[in-house]
Amino acid sequence: MRALTWQGKHDVRVETVPDPRIINPRDAIIRITSTAICGSDLHLYDDVIPGMKSGDVLGHEFMGEVVEVGPGNQKLKVGERVVVPFVIACGQCFFCGKQQFAACDNSNPAEKADASELAYGYPMAAAFGYSHLTGGYPGGQAEYARVPFSDIGPIVIPDGVDDDKVLFLSDILPTGWMAAVNCDIESGDTVAVWGCGPVGLFAIQSALVLGAHRVIAIDHHPHRLELAKSLGAEVINFEETRVNEALAELTGGIGPDACIDAVGMESHGLSPDNLLDHIKVKTFMATDRVHALRQVIMATRKGGRISIPGVYGGVADKFPIGALMEKGLTLKTGQTHVQKFSQQLLDLILDGKLDTTFLISHRLDLEEAAEGYKNFKEKQNEFTKVVLKPKFTRH
Ligand SMILES: NC(=O)c1ccc[n+]([C@@H]2O[C@H](COP(=O)([O-])OP(=O)(O)OC[C@H]3O[C@@H](n4cnc5c(N)ncnc54)[C@H](O)[C@@H]3O)[C@@H](O)[C@H]2O)c1
Ligand SMILES: [Zn+2]
Ligand SMILES: [Zn+2]
Repeated sequence: MRALTWQGKHDVRVETVPDPRIINPRDAIIRITSTAICGSDLHLYDDVIPGMKSGDVLGHEFMGEVVEVGPGNQKLKVGERVVVPFVIACGQCFFCGKQQFAACDNSNPAEKADASELAYGYPMAAAFGYSHLTGGYPGGQAEYARVPFSDIGPIVIPDGVDDDKVLFLSDILPTGWMAAVNCDIESGDTVAVWGCGPVGLFAIQSALVLGAHRVIAIDHHPHRLELAKSLGAEVINFEETRVNEALAELTGGIGPDACIDAVGMESHGLSPDNLLDHIKVKTFMATDRVHALRQVIMATRKGGRISIPGVYGGVADKFPIGALMEKGLTLKTGQTHVQKFSQQLLDLILDGKLDTTFLISHRLDLEEAAEGYKNFKEKQNEFTKVVLKPKFTRH
């Protein structure tokens, strides 16, 4: 089959690789009809997440048709259309029992989980197409994918619902949703969101659905800020305005009740702390550029809440631990427990209460995936979301 492979920093190529096959009884094989490029894929493209090997198949946002089901799967049927969560979870371990699917203890094979245990104290759960730290599973920017524990993850989509409407159930919609849930929004709250990429935009939409009174969005790409505005947010361009002063002014001097960092470890901007982070990362003295998170901690009102969906991989320099503690802030974060939110979010989509199709700016053939990555990274203003379609599924 054809699949997008990682070859090194800023080098991804569509190649012919072996077709996946059923290995374990609960596996299923999916023929992929739509797959997307995520901001998290850019961290791999930029080679800032460790554990990639040349030839790894990328992609963790995908959906398609079930073409084969293992003998241990009593749930899925050949021919059904499904969206696949990016997190691979067994559904049976201690963590899955608590619906903390992104902490599953069974999906990342023990010998591979060693590396993440060394890095984080305990092994990570597995994810599709996301380095050997998370199991080294081939991803879904491909014609087919093997889905382990497929009686737990995939959600069946009713006939007649367009791929575009439901594809983002795989990752960014539940990620934006969980980011807002983690803000514990109360009526009257003002929520500020750093980053108007797919995750930030869905966090804005979710915060409003969950009852936020006001949302203030921060980015520097005019078109992405326009999208935030069209969702109902007030906006701040961090290249034109001092963000934290503006936030204080907009909130009567007390600061937002809750703040969301939907930027992560590759923060943009020319502030002195960010420039220092750049130098430290280049010289292997630091791993993550945490400028946005520093700003978040400083901006949040006393007693407020912080939610971090943005991905961080290593250790942070100049982390304002004093402000976090002295202001009594609550902080929640994590890879998304996608499976926990799938049905609720599908229902909201089918009821017309959530529409995510506005985000898609480009639809490309899978063969053009390398171009898609380059543009999603370099032309962020126009390329808000790239959906890839394997050729044989093009209508
Ligand atoms: N927790 C999870 O499970 C999960 C799932 C998906 C994505 N993510 C992460 O969420 C983050 C966002 O993903 P995305 O797809 O929206 O990515 P993206 O790269 O498309 O968007 C990031 C946005 O942040 C903006 N930005 C950069 N620096 C900023 C700053 N200093 N202040 C304000 N805005 C700034 C950029 O201009 C860009 O618009 C990434 O780190 C991604 O890895 C996490
Ligand atoms: Zn993703
Ligand atoms: Zn589990």
